[in-house]
Amino acid sequence: MTATDPLLRLDNVTRRFGGLVAVNDISFQIHSGEVKGLIGPNGAGKSTTFDLVTGVRPPSSGEVYFRGQRVTRQPAHTRSPMGMARTFQIVRLFSGLSVLENVQLGLHPKFPDGIVRSLLRLGSLSGQERASRERAMDLLAFVGLADRAGHAIDQLTLGQLRLVDIARALAADPVLLMLDEPAAGLNDAETDNLGEMLVRLRKQGLSMLLVEHDIDFIMKACDSIVVMDHGVKIADGTPAEVARNPDVIAAYFGRRAVHAAA
Ligand SMILES: Nc1ncnc2c1ncn2[C@@H]1O[C@H](COP(=O)(O)OP(=O)(O)O)[C@@H](O)[C@H]1O
Ligand SMILES: [Mg+2]
Repeated sequence: MTATDPLLRLDNVTRRFGGLVAVNDISFQIHSGEVKGLIGPNGAGKSTTFDLVTGVRPPSSGEVYFRGQRVTRQPAHTRSPMGMARTFQIVRLFSGLSVLENVQLGLHPKFPDGIVRSLLRLGSLSGQERASRERAMDLLAFVGLADRAGHAIDQLTLGQLRLVDIARALAADPVLLMLDEPAAGLNDAETDNLGEMLVRLRKQGLSMLLVEHDIDFIMKACDSIVVMDHGVKIADGTPAEVARNPDVIAAYFGRRAVHAAA
């Protein structure tokens, strides 16, 4: 990858489900250090696009490049060691493990010697296990949950679970962090807290792809925004550019709003 290559590039990506075109000829890029939002009404194709980027499924046509390498048909598990990490819209954490242990599971690519095995082993800690705990504790402190480290996962609120999931994703030391609807189901205070966290990550230069239904949340968090509607990209620009785009206004607020704004 050269200095001018984008971190992530989608070239004319299409995904069909039978006769339905869920993602229709989408192209966009994320540059290093950029926080990109992907928004659109329900059914616009956001999660499907996210799946094409993360490798959950391949596109029907088009190409995906990550760090200058074509990854179009590479499965998710081979993309994560390249520096992609994601969270899940429905948080997937292990209820039998503590908060700290869940974050430690995210360390897996860096600590390859069987984290799950070491979690279950009693007795003295090896140097590697101690390092893994310290790193996981640092990440919990970063997301503001150090005091919950020993708690069972099911004692946390949804907002706290999302933060744990982000800590778990960060544990892999990604260059691109991808979040699908991180604010879904959160109350106002939790949403604000999450927004502040993302601002801190952005300041540290982490590149991100944020998929969100909540347009206000995305406007504050992102450098640039792609807007999708019915599988098609209808806008791509700064939050200010996107906010005054008539097609975006129409997709979100209906035709009347465009006429009123015109
Ligand atoms: N696995 C699937 N099989 C069939 N249709 C799907 C599948 N996943 C998504 N779709 C359809 O693709 C369209 C886009 O869905 P999705 O990407 O989930 O949109 P969004 O995340 O923007 O709400 C919707 O019409 C949805 O019903
Ligand atoms: Mg979705």
